[in-house]
Amino acid sequence: MILRCIECGREYSSEEVRYRCECGGLLEVLVDLGEVENIFDGKNITLWKYKSFIPVEKRVSLNEGGTPIYRLENLQTELGMKEVYVKNEGANPTGSFKDRGMTVGVSKALELGMDKVICASTGNTSASLAAYAAKSNIKAYVLVPSGKIALGKLAQAIVYGAKVVPVRGNFDDALKVVVEASSELGVYMLNSINPFRLEGQKTIAFEIFDQLGFVPDKVILPVGNAGNISAIWKGFKELYEAGFIDKLPQMIGIQAEGASPLARAWKERREFKPLEKPETVATAIRIGNPANWPKAWRAVEESRGVLESVSDEEILKAQKMLASKEGIFVEPASASSLAGLMKLRNEIEEDESVVLITTGHGLKDPNIILEGFELPEPIEPSLEAFKEVL
Ligand code: F0G
Repeated sequence: MILRCIECGREYSSEEVRYRCECGGLLEVLVDLGEVENIFDGKNITLWKYKSFIPVEKRVSLNEGGTPIYRLENLQTELGMKEVYVKNEGANPTGSFKDRGMTVGVSKALELGMDKVICASTGNTSASLAAYAAKSNIKAYVLVPSGKIALGKLAQAIVYGAKVVPVRGNFDDALKVVVEASSELGVYMLNSINPFRLEGQKTIAFEIFDQLGFVPDKVILPVGNAGNISAIWKGFKELYEAGFIDKLPQMIGIQAEGASPLARAWKERREFKPLEKPETVATAIRIGNPANWPKAWRAVEESRGVLESVSDEEILKAQKMLASKEGIFVEPASASSLAGLMKLRNEIEEDESVVLITTGHGLKDPNIILEGFELPEPIEPSLEAFKEVL
């Protein structure tokens, strides 16, 4: 298996531990599309169904993938659209899409003989890495921005047995430490600059096509470190290049306004510049220097998509709408895909098909819902008292 630099084209063997090219460019895995199987029959959907596209042997799995796709019957009408779906990645084993990356990434770590893994994380990556490391009997180190990680995610990383290290700083600061630590201390890094993570996450594209039986016009998803949008685009491109589909979707990436260096550069048609102090209620995507930005930028450009930002208010409104009108409870970052659709609604035809990716489960961050909500006074345990509140 070959790794290739997306900037200079230099190639490396995937048998060595390497995250970037000598030139500093990001690497991607070249998959031999002559060998892949056309198994898109809508049946028995799990991530490892697509193993012929995945460049490692399955070594560790918690049954990831096979997440449900829902038609938003109520909301699509309200939005004046005909076909809006949610692909709910919160239904993965640890409650986020990161499990797709980790089943492949930790399998690769085991193939390379590594017994320690590390990541920086706004929460979900740490929860997922911790679980897959536990299952593999190896040690996980997770560095998280102190005080800025949702409670449920922190609890997950702790209970799965990872060494949790809070960092005085944000995700970008934690990632810097992790990059240095991985090369100095011989610990395998599983942030999304590791191209094997994206090989797992690209299966979201395979599942969308497998479940719907067609390629949607638009795929909308939140963007943080910018790995997932790159991964999903790679998945669709592989389907196209293998000759299994004859059209590609437009990729639409949504950032939170206070953490939107990519969306800003896109809208202002200027060079990408990192943002010093990202801030948003959607802590999962509170990132100022998305490491995968060059891949994400290309995904959006090649697919003739868009990068857009939404306010915290719009995110929380969309989160409530998904839960109260469709029964789908997602964390704030995930709701930015619906918030993005609402913001871009006028630029989308009513009969275009749209798939929103919701990336993480709502129960990971319950505080956000309970803040500002006051439970009524308890009642006496009698029918009379109950009738009174009615
Ligand atoms: N949605 C959720 C729920 C996330 O946790 C993340 C990233 C994203 C979207 C953005 O995905 O980084 O591939 O663009 N969370 C990482 C973490 C950064 O550490 O859990 P991306």
